[in-house]
Amino acid sequence: MTGTILVAGGNGYIGSHVVVELAAAGFRPVIVDNLANSKPEAARRVAAIAGAKVPLLVGDVRDGAFLDAVFEAHDIDLVIHLAGLKAVGESVAEPLRYYDVNVGGAVGLLAAMRRHRVRRMVFSSSATVYGDPVSVPITEDFATGATNPYGRTKLMIEEILADLVASDPAWRAVSLRYFNPVGAHESAQIGEDPNGIPNNLFPFIAQVAVGRREKLSVFGGDYGTPDGTGVRDYIHVVDLARAHVKAAEALLSGALATGAHLPINLGTGRGFSVLDVVHAWRRATNRPIPYEVVERRPGDIAACYADPRLAASLLDWRAGFDLDAMCRDHWRWQSRNPNGYEEAA
Ligand code: NAD
Ligand code: UFG
Repeated sequence: MTGTILVAGGNGYIGSHVVVELAAAGFRPVIVDNLANSKPEAARRVAAIAGAKVPLLVGDVRDGAFLDAVFEAHDIDLVIHLAGLKAVGESVAEPLRYYDVNVGGAVGLLAAMRRHRVRRMVFSSSATVYGDPVSVPITEDFATGATNPYGRTKLMIEEILADLVASDPAWRAVSLRYFNPVGAHESAQIGEDPNGIPNNLFPFIAQVAVGRREKLSVFGGDYGTPDGTGVRDYIHVVDLARAHVKAAEALLSGALATGAHLPINLGTGRGFSVLDVVHAWRRATNRPIPYEVVERRPGDIAACYADPRLAASLLDWRAGFDLDAMCRDHWRWQSRNPNGYEEAA
C-alpha cells in the first residue's frame, strides 16, 4: 500500500522502528519530533536502513502553526501518534507537564488533523491502562484504571479518541496497547537509548552486560508467580512496529470501518519472569549478569500479559520473535553502541 504517514514522535525508540517498517511496506513516512528525548542521528540511521529520504521535521505537537505548515507541505493520509513523555515516576512528580505534553499534544495534533481533513489515527497506548488486572491474560474488554498520571494520560487520550469518532463517523482511530517493548532492529543501527539510569528491565540488563553497571536489582522475589519475580509480556520492537503498519493499512483500506475507536493489545501472549529474562540474557551474551533480589518497586504488579487474539483477527498480526531473539537483538544494539547514539554525534 502507498500513502504518506505523519509519524509524531517518529525519532524515538519505537517510532524509529515504525518508520523503518512503514518505508519497507511502501509508505512515505514523515517524522515530526521535537527531539525532547531523541537525537537527529536516529533519523539519519533510519533513512540509511530504509534506503530512502525520510523528512525529520523538528517541532512540537502542541504548536498548531508548526503543524499547519507540516500538513500544508505534505499530503498526509494518516497519523501515527507516538510523541509524548513516558516515565511513570516523573509523571507522579510532574503531573502538569505530563498532562500538558501528552494530553495537550494529542488534542493539538487532532485539532490540526481536523483542520486539514486527515481523520485516521493510530495511537501509542499502553498496557498500563489496565492498572492491576484481576487476572491474566488480559483482553481489551478488561476494566481500565490507571494508577499514575502517565497511565491516566493514556486513558484520557483513548477517551478523547472515542468521543471524536462518536462525534463524526468520518474519523477512524485505533489505540495500540503495548505490553513491554524491547529489542532493537537487527542491523543494530537503531535501538533504545535511555538517558541516565534506565528504569526498565531490558535497558538496565543491557548496561550490566556491557559493563556500565555492576549488577541488576531484581525488584521483589515474593510475588505470587512461579519463581516469585514479576512476570511481563515482552514484545520485540520490530514486531510492534509491523503491527503499526498493519493498523495503518487496515484504517486506510476501510477494513476497520467500525465507526468506533478500537483499543488493541500488542503482546506475544506469553509472560516471562525477571529471572527468565536474566537467563535469556545470559544465553544471548555468554556473560554472567549478576543480580540481587531487593524490595519490590512501589506501584509494580505481579503479572501482566496480553491476550493478543484481537490483533490477530482484526489486523492479521502476530508476534514473530521470541525472548531469545529479543535479547540477541537488544544486545547487538547495546554492544555495538555502548553509549547509544552519543559517539556518532
Ligand atoms: P521515546 O521517548 O523514545 O519516543 C518519543 C518521541 O517523542 C521522542 O523522540 C521525543 O523526542 C518525542 N516527543 C516528546 N514530546 C514531544 C512533543 N511535545 N512534540 C513532538 N515530539 C515529542 O519513547 P518510546 O519508547 O519510543 O515510546 C513511544 C510512545 O509509546 C510513547 O507515547 C509511550 O508512552 C508509548 N509507550 C511506550 C512503551 C515503552 O515501554 N517504551 C510502552 C507503552 C507505551
Ligand atoms: N525490574 C527489575 N529491575 C529493574 C527494572 C525492572 O526487577 O531494574 C522488573 C520490574 O519489577 C518488573 C519487570 O522487571 O517486574 C519489568 O519492569 P519494566 O520497568 O521493564 O516494565 P514495567 O512492566 O514495570 O513497565 C512498563 C512500561 C511502563 C508502563 C508499565 C505498565 O515501561 O511505561 O509497563 O504497563 F507504565
